[in-house]
Amino acid sequence: MQAKVIAHSNIALAKYWGKLDSERNLTAVPSLSLTLDALRTTTHVQFDESLASDELVLDGRPSAGRPRERVTRLLDRVRELAGMQTRARVTTANDFPTAAGLASSASGFAALALAATRAAGLPLDLGGVSALARASSASAARSLFGGFAALRAGAEQAERVAPGEHFPLVMLVALTATGPKDVGSTDGMQHTSRTSPYYPAWVEHAPRLFEQAHGAVLERDLPRLGEAMEQSTLMMHASMLAAAPGLLYWVPASLRVIHEVRALRARGTAAYFTMDAGPHVKVLTAPADAERVERALLDCDGVERVVRCQAGPDAREVQG
Ligand code: PMV
Repeated sequence: MQAKVIAHSNIALAKYWGKLDSERNLTAVPSLSLTLDALRTTTHVQFDESLASDELVLDGRPSAGRPRERVTRLLDRVRELAGMQTRARVTTANDFPTAAGLASSASGFAALALAATRAAGLPLDLGGVSALARASSASAARSLFGGFAALRAGAEQAERVAPGEHFPLVMLVALTATGPKDVGSTDGMQHTSRTSPYYPAWVEHAPRLFEQAHGAVLERDLPRLGEAMEQSTLMMHASMLAAAPGLLYWVPASLRVIHEVRALRARGTAAYFTMDAGPHVKVLTAPADAERVERALLDCDGVERVVRCQAGPDAREVQG
């Protein structure tokens, strides 16, 4: 009745922001991501008859409130599928800052969904586990798959697009500031869809950017991928900026990195940025240019650290 799992975070190259169905947590636009080797969550789940309620230990500290409620909601679905009522002890640790726009929910819920189904003895394939993870966090649906993964608009589960070896790339994560983000993605997207006059335009144009990014991955075309990626993130953030009140995740260092990426490009280096619901900037580049781009990012005032990532593998069960 126990299992230990490692799942990797992912960064969307073509973003999703907004729900088609909030109840079922289905996304309004398609998204495409790269799973990252260096950002990982390790989660252990043990069902235990002696527990009166689910327990959560997050990064070494017992955790209650909303994080535990979200864990219990996923475990309830697993218990329902397995026809049991036993409560579980969940121990989970990230090797990167939690809730700072680094998609800890993606690797976190992917790891929890896989560990809980394995511990309960449910024979779900990765697609089935992806659907379970998606109900908790849509971006988590993509983290079950290594390499490139897609989650179509309104889809129950993510799908594999290509393994990482198909198109070797480096994602440099420039950490600009640490600390929990102000507005979580769930609240942020609800606020945007309710109040931003630009939200309908985002929903209309995002599928085209997804198609461009998808085609560029299959054709191994970095400039075409990078162009779609930057437009996707800027359009998503434009929809947030136009909300009332406007939602602004950027800090001065984020802008410095963005300008540096464009300066690198003007000098002939293929590097492209993307940002999520937090101040960090992620920069996509070719392996041969990674060293140079990393140095340039570290020179930007306000960048505290750069985490160099390549494509990561599928979420998987480990011993121990
Ligand atoms: O599903 P969530 O709550 O993790 O939201 C993810 C939203 C973005 O990271 C901004 C975009 C994305 O597609 O991952």
